[in-house]
Amino acid sequence: MKLDEVQQAAEEQFARQSHRYGQGHILENVEDVRVAIEPLKLPPGSRVLDVATGAGHTGLFLASLGHNATLADLAQPMLERAKEAATKRGLNVLTRQHPAEQFPYEDGSFDLVTCRVAAHHFSSPESFIRETARVLPTGGYFLLIDGSVEDDQSEAEEWLHQVEKFRDPSHQRFLTPRDWSRLCEASGLKVLQAPLAPFKQPDLNWYFDTAATSPENRKQVLELVAHAPQSARDLFRLGEEAGKIVWWWQRLSLVAVKR
Ligand SMILES: C[S@@+](CC[C@H](N)C(=O)[O-])C[C@H]1O[C@@H](n2cnc3c(N)ncnc32)[C@H](O)[C@@H]1O
Repeated sequence: MKLDEVQQAAEEQFARQSHRYGQGHILENVEDVRVAIEPLKLPPGSRVLDVATGAGHTGLFLASLGHNATLADLAQPMLERAKEAATKRGLNVLTRQHPAEQFPYEDGSFDLVTCRVAAHHFSSPESFIRETARVLPTGGYFLLIDGSVEDDQSEAEEWLHQVEKFRDPSHQRFLTPRDWSRLCEASGLKVLQAPLAPFKQPDLNWYFDTAATSPENRKQVLELVAHAPQSARDLFRLGEEAGKIVWWWQRLSLVAVKR
């Protein structure tokens, strides 16, 4: 598997931090996935690919609904965490190690492709969407959940980008709903919905620890927090609760269908 520089950085970061993403992580709550896929009425036994599965919260939830789930990630230790969790829960899943930008599957192999809280690390969102569209048959679904920033908020978006980059240098960029929708439409995916919902970052120190942020970079983030522009303060509801620095991401939940 030949990785580009961005993929390599993500692989190293998440291989090192895989123990942080299992039980107790805020991603364990998959209510966002449940709500997004419920209207799709996928019959049990549907073929599902969960891209950048991490510790497997999304893919394992889909397997628990009786779907035939393939869990893919760049980082082998993450796939091991997902396998362990599957065994614990008595779920049968397939794990595959590959990047989100190039899939080792035939055209039309899956009824649903999901990707949750990972796409902001990808070196090429364009290739990821193109590959997603390729492995879906006509009528197949795509669910993308990721941090985002509403359209036309460039100052707040740039602030959050810098915060995320210092916190975890393998971060690439949060795309707006309009950016993602354009990429989908260009690859033959019709966007059915792309709402943003607030999602809490509950404690900046916890967030640093999750990524093993260096002391120097923590200082940089604290500076950015101290001097955040009003647009970012308002949009992300940046504040303090019981001595903890908190904010609310804008989380995109995009559902599309292959034309
Ligand atoms: C926050 S975790 C994903 C969480 C998971 N989807 C969930 O719902 O709990 C991010 C994952 O993205 C993976 N990743 C980052 N860049 C990737 C890429 N280019 N291709 C595949 N996986 C990637 C990382 O290895 C990591 O496991």
